[in-house]
Amino acid sequence: MSSASPAVPHLSFPDGHTIPQLGYGVFKVADEIAADVTAQALEAGYRHIDTAKIYGNEEGVGRAIAASGIAREDLFVTTKLWNDAHRFEDAIAACEASLARLGLDYVDLYLVHWAVPGQGQYVEAWKALIELQERGLVRSIGVSNHPRPQLEEIIEATGVVPAIHQIELHPYFSQRELREVHQRRGILTQAWGPLGQGRSDLLENATIAAVAEAHGASPAQVVLAWHLAHGIVTIPKSVTPARIVENLAAVELRLTAEEVAAIDGLDRPDGRGGADPATKTA
Ligand SMILES: NC(=O)c1ccc[n+]([C@@H]2O[C@H](COP(=O)([O-])OP(=O)(O)OC[C@H]3O[C@@H](n4cnc5c(N)ncnc54)[C@H](OP(=O)(O)O)[C@@H]3O)[C@@H](O)[C@H]2O)c1
Repeated sequence: MSSASPAVPHLSFPDGHTIPQLGYGVFKVADEIAADVTAQALEAGYRHIDTAKIYGNEEGVGRAIAASGIAREDLFVTTKLWNDAHRFEDAIAACEASLARLGLDYVDLYLVHWAVPGQGQYVEAWKALIELQERGLVRSIGVSNHPRPQLEEIIEATGVVPAIHQIELHPYFSQRELREVHQRRGILTQAWGPLGQGRSDLLENATIAAVAEAHGASPAQVVLAWHLAHGIVTIPKSVTPARIVENLAAVELRLTAEEVAAIDGLDRPDGRGGADPATKTA
């Protein structure tokens, strides 16, 4: 890391590993540019990259990692199991294929991308991740987009608690109830779509704008600092060089308790922007 890069805090998993609290997401980044933008993120000081099989850019991400010269133990790489491979053997093969595309011997975190309750294979998928961890192909295991009943079911069925749960989460959809479940279970919360997937009404919100002005920060930095203040792991995506740098610098922004509370107040019943995990079918 260059000396000018901000220091990103790490949070601990019960399995003994740690995760940088702010990382770089690459959803909707074409494989052709993934190597370039990931290289920019690594150069800026990010050490945590969040990709997925379905993003189609594991190869580009892997090329950037290989070219970076950064020691493997200094990087944290996440990828995810897609919904068409929840059967045990399919999940094992899918992880091996992701590792091959990434050019890595292991990933730091492997997630079941969606529970897909109607498909009914999420317990089997979770058992495969437990096996992958035992085999050493993945350091830590977690889930994404699991409604509370399915989250509790995989824990009851296996006795293994996910290290982290990656869910849609931003000030308009702050997932208070699920975060409380996580806290009771010792699961870290990770936010996808932390900037509301770039929706202008969030980044132009008057409350956020006022906090930004008070700190001489950008609205995106304020939103990211709100995540960090709540102990949430956050993975903003940008392909814009200045924003890549700007988002990482949010780790240096400290909001007051009053500012955090004011942003908490922006939560809305209709705040969800993405698919509802309870009804996603494929
Ligand atoms: N588990 C899941 O199902 C799931 C679902 C979605 C996402 N994810 C993960 O979460 C990551 C983040 O979520 P996301 O990519 O959907 O949305 P996001 O990070 O909330 O928002 C990305 C959007 O915000 C814009 N943006 C970034 N920084 C900005 C800034 N400083 N000021 C203004 N606009 C800014 C980006 O534009 P530019 O790129 O044009 O700069 C892009 O349009 C993904 O990349 C992926 O790794 C996971």
